[in-house]
Amino acid sequence: MRFYVTTPIYYVNDRPHIGHSYTTIAADILARHQRQRGVETFFLTGVDEHATKVWRAAENAGLSAQEFVDRIAESWRALPERLNAETDFFLRTTDEGHKAFVRQFLQRIYDNGDVYEDVYSGPYCVSCEEFKNDDELVDGKCPIHLIPVEHLEEKNYFFRLSKYQDALLALYDEGFVVPEFRRNEVRSFVSSGLRDFSISRAGQPWGIPLPWDETQVAYVWADALVNYLSALTYAHPGEDLIDAFWPVAHHLVGKDIIRFHCVYWPAMLLSAGYSVPKQVFAHGWLLLDDVKISKSLGNALDPFELIETYGADAVRYWCARAVSFGQDGSASFADIAARYERELGNDLGNLLSRTTAMIAKYRAGRIPEGTTSPAIAAAIADIADRVPEQIEAFDLTGAIDRIWVLVRELNRYVTEQAPWTLAKDEANAEQLDQVLHDLADGLRAAAVAIWAYLPETSPKILEALGQPTDAAWERVAAGELEPATIAPAAPLFPRIESSGAA
Ligand code: ME8
Ligand code: MG
Repeated sequence: MRFYVTTPIYYVNDRPHIGHSYTTIAADILARHQRQRGVETFFLTGVDEHATKVWRAAENAGLSAQEFVDRIAESWRALPERLNAETDFFLRTTDEGHKAFVRQFLQRIYDNGDVYEDVYSGPYCVSCEEFKNDDELVDGKCPIHLIPVEHLEEKNYFFRLSKYQDALLALYDEGFVVPEFRRNEVRSFVSSGLRDFSISRAGQPWGIPLPWDETQVAYVWADALVNYLSALTYAHPGEDLIDAFWPVAHHLVGKDIIRFHCVYWPAMLLSAGYSVPKQVFAHGWLLLDDVKISKSLGNALDPFELIETYGADAVRYWCARAVSFGQDGSASFADIAARYERELGNDLGNLLSRTTAMIAKYRAGRIPEGTTSPAIAAAIADIADRVPEQIEAFDLTGAIDRIWVLVRELNRYVTEQAPWTLAKDEANAEQLDQVLHDLADGLRAAAVAIWAYLPETSPKILEALGQPTDAAWERVAAGELEPATIAPAAPLFPRIESSGAA
């Protein structure tokens, strides 16, 4: 079994914001979950460097484009690292391996007769890096970025997208695009007729020269989309991973770039003689005051600051939970602070503190052995059975909600059983053993289950319980508790002095 997941490769005209973290976190949760289940996984992320807006940002900074991208690429490389995203490769479109592959790929489309020369004359949004139709504009502005579009008129090479209409419609019937409401949007766009699109730029020196006409460079999207395939040819030097991973490719993208991934990209692949990826999942936008968080709009939440304050796990947790994954939703500092305190600090952190403290106090640190109670065992079994299917369906929010049912159940159990009362009477010793055992086994299983979401916290819980820090999914099962002597655990999510977080 294999699994391949990608994030978009982000534009390096500016620094990362929370919206980019969002997709990277989601992809990491998917990848880690598959690894937990023993699936051989490849997780790709990276940066998109040959954009017009990148070239202009370099000019504004008084640097050559290459110097500019070399400098800024480091803050982008830091993004997955700081988020604790376990990527297998970080691609830059200025990599020699990528550039060479793009030229071969475009040559195959050309050789297939799908490229012709024409003049493009029309609007272009530099923030989207997209040729627009007049009827999409709002007051002459890009509807996404709310900035005026530019008028382009240049001799370009066009790709015969229109030829692939039927093939694309057939793909949608096979469930190529998820969720379904996005698939329907894409289907109606394609059904209404496709216009060929330009795959080159004449007026810009920054980019990959076309193999058949070196006076033009590849249009940034005709270069960038190919990254998902090119990476597999040079990520492991001397090895071609295409056969192993391309058939199981899953692209995770925001809804802003759905047309590129669900229409242009599969058509280009078919033309070049490759199979299409297995699925594209388009999630919604995180909104701040109802405006999409965007570098171009300058209203971004800085992910590095958030990680500094709350830790990577809390940021990951909030991304998975704040908005039902797939839908649009609002982001705020208040929400992350509230979830940190209530759900991570109280529900999970206090549960570990209380459990370990009570085992230390009442049983000299020895976790009582026994058989886990049916109610707790059932909550664990529910996670073991249902979370994998939810994650396979990209329901990242539903899956963490289900794991939290166990966390809440354990908290309810503590309140109901009141171990501190049981401890007052030696006649209740057996029951107290049972309760402490259940809490430890339940927390242990919860810790394994949350590993994909909270990769720092999960091993901390397992260590505090004296358990192996192995996150294999089969350990999400009752009765896997190993004998151990433990001490009261340090707080998992210490209180944060409110710094405007309210
Ligand atoms: O489009 N909410 O790069 P980009 C949720 N280089 N996700 C968001 C978001 C938000 N407010 N803002 C950004 C590009 N994203 C191209 C991609 S791929 C071959 C080339 C995420 O820097 C989301 O995944 O504009 C979105 O699709 C992506 O960042 C756009 O990043
Ligand atoms: Mg963008």
